[in-house]
Amino acid sequence: MKRIGVLTSGGDSPGMNAAIRAVVRKAIYHDIEVYGIYYGYAGLIAGDIKKMELGSVGDIIHRGGTMLYTARCEEFKTLEGQKKGIEQLNKFGIEGLVVIGGDGSYRGAQKLTEHGFPTIGVPGTIDNDIPGTDFTIGFDTALNTVIDAIDKIRDTATSHERTYIIEVMGRHAGDLALWSGLADGAETILIPEAEYDFEQITYRLKRGQERGKKHSIIIVAEGAGSGMEFGQKLKEATNMETRVTVLGHIQRGGSPTGADRVLASRLGAKAVDLLLEGKSGVTVGIQQNKLVHHDINEALAETHTVDLDMYTLSQELSI
Ligand code: F6P
Repeated sequence: MKRIGVLTSGGDSPGMNAAIRAVVRKAIYHDIEVYGIYYGYAGLIAGDIKKMELGSVGDIIHRGGTMLYTARCEEFKTLEGQKKGIEQLNKFGIEGLVVIGGDGSYRGAQKLTEHGFPTIGVPGTIDNDIPGTDFTIGFDTALNTVIDAIDKIRDTATSHERTYIIEVMGRHAGDLALWSGLADGAETILIPEAEYDFEQITYRLKRGQERGKKHSIIIVAEGAGSGMEFGQKLKEATNMETRVTVLGHIQRGGSPTGADRVLASRLGAKAVDLLLEGKSGVTVGIQQNKLVHHDINEALAETHTVDLDMYTLSQELSI
């Protein structure tokens, strides 16, 4: 293999730049040319492809977002779109591809593999919802962004003795809510993976107030429902002074944490190693701090799960 491509696709996540850098540098280290494909699969179809050099990825390891830009591309879900993409790859003489992104990006990589094009998936999403890896690139940074926001909200919540409902991202997964809730001592965490008992929540809030708690924090994963609606329901049921904050896209930005930079560097480089070993249709990941790879079909067939022991712990610690 003498020439590979790299693209980022779907929602961006902090650390994607560090992963691009690792792909480019590791490939050049092995005397392989690298082409950057801009705007994900949309750019692949359009042929928005440029050669990258060592310097192309200088000064990006600490930057959020993705220097290759990204897009969600409906056309690539069609056979027609996939064929156009492969035509472009052939036109540029690209022999293997690294796709950095989440679930949707992996589905595109799966299709390319089915068409016989060597493709490796690297998990990049703040949602931490990709099977076959304990952590995805961007999750740790987003987690710390959420924690920082909640710490700030906590100050004003205490001053006013209010109950705050904070809605966090995560798509269908509760990881961001669960981890931030545990890290911030939230009274209640609502995640899509666990049923909640509304009566029990209000009982616990009232009991907390009675023992002199100055504020309460409730984290709602977007996949568990609307924070606004939950806040309204709680206000009506308890008459407590409530406020709702939807953190939104702030969770996707910012300089990646050390953990994300290291993870991205390891996974990006591993993807290149796998292409050089002749692998295709695999995803890289980290499990128990070891780099691993799995068949992309198997990874996509699995359902992501959260650690329910952590959920139980969060409830035990917030009595
Ligand atoms: O997958 C990342 C993510 O930020 C999810 O947490 C969220 O549901 C979604 O993307 C938001 O997508 P968009 O940027 O298209 O609004």
